[in-house]
Amino acid sequence: MTWQIDAGRDLVKSFGDRMAMFVRGEGAYLWDANGRRYLDFLAGIAVTSLGHAHPVFVEALATQAATLAHVSNYFATPPQLELASRLKRLAGTGDGGRVYFGNSGAEANEAAFKLARLHGGADRPRVLALTNAFHGRTMGTLALTGKPAMQEPFLPMVPGVEFIDSTVEALEAAIDDRVAALFIEPIKGEAGVVELPTGYLQAARELTERHGALLIVDEIQTGAGRTGEWFAFQHAGITPDAITVAKGIGGGFPIGALITFASASDLFYPGTHGSTFGGNALGTAVAGAVLAEIERADLVANAADRGAQLRAIIDRIGSPLVSGCRGQGLLIGVGLRAPVAKAVVAAAQERGLIINAPNDETIRLVPALNIGDVELDEFALLFADTLAAVQAALADSTGGTP
Ligand SMILES: Cc1ncc(COP(=O)(O)O)c(C=O)c1O
Repeated sequence: MTWQIDAGRDLVKSFGDRMAMFVRGEGAYLWDANGRRYLDFLAGIAVTSLGHAHPVFVEALATQAATLAHVSNYFATPPQLELASRLKRLAGTGDGGRVYFGNSGAEANEAAFKLARLHGGADRPRVLALTNAFHGRTMGTLALTGKPAMQEPFLPMVPGVEFIDSTVEALEAAIDDRVAALFIEPIKGEAGVVELPTGYLQAARELTERHGALLIVDEIQTGAGRTGEWFAFQHAGITPDAITVAKGIGGGFPIGALITFASASDLFYPGTHGSTFGGNALGTAVAGAVLAEIERADLVANAADRGAQLRAIIDRIGSPLVSGCRGQGLLIGVGLRAPVAKAVVAAAQERGLIINAPNDETIRLVPALNIGDVELDEFALLFADTLAAVQAALADSTGGTP
């Protein structure tokens, strides 16, 4: 069968044209339908934490599929309880923590939004979220996402959400005793890997606590060890009321979760939320195995070390196109001095390197957490060549440097 890359024919048009057709993956590499190999520094947008077709992932999926896949949430299964307890330990919730399982980041945030409403009741109708943060595409999570252009075609939004700038001053001005919750994306991945100001999370914790509002941290892109801690809030030494996780937790299996700390663990009561598939034995067995492997191989430390190495590589390349790096660990945004990120992505792909552009002036690098020297050396060559080619094309078209 000849594969046509024609998203317009059978798939909804919301994703636009597909950039390639991949048929196989192994480790940090992908192969397209023509047998060409690519170095994958996108990892399915921070999802395949262990790389592709990792034996631990494959074994967990196959074994659990042959044992018990799904029984509904009327019943418990060992992998579900084991994963809940592992997530609580890694997040540091203590005994008072609880876990709700869904199937995606958006579902985790939907649960968090409902948690906020349960906490707020009639007295606290306000929910605060940060301008330019991304929390998902469902109607609830879109309402939490501070990007007017994304919301506009789908108005009216779920009411009650107010957007504030990511400054302590803006939070101080906005917060009062009628706020149910503050949602935070600790590094704004979709906005171009934009960090919060130093001290923001600590100030947010202090102010939400003072006003009785929940602090909910969206760790969907930053979690599972990607930033060099299990969760980004841990760099700040604070305790939130709840966090949401997805993406890298499942290593490629769709799973999301809301993890509550003791302060928010008693809000849900029977009948207030649920999902047919959420937390089924198959997904939780795979996520449990993925997290166990991240722990066993100390990939959280690897994310910190390899992230530093990656930044040093980009510095060494010294491209005049690059203004600098943002982010933490293996969540890196490479800032560009000209709006040519799409051209950089295309030039990289031509050379066998998969990267991504969250906006016109940023390249996002989110490889698997277990990359090593071999992958970094190959990346250095491919990325240097990519940047040089785009720089040359730009110089040709403008008659000078960016
Ligand atoms: C910070 C953050 N929150 C929520 C989401 C939504 O997750 P999903 O696409 O799994 O629904 C994403 C996805 O990119 C994300 O990066």
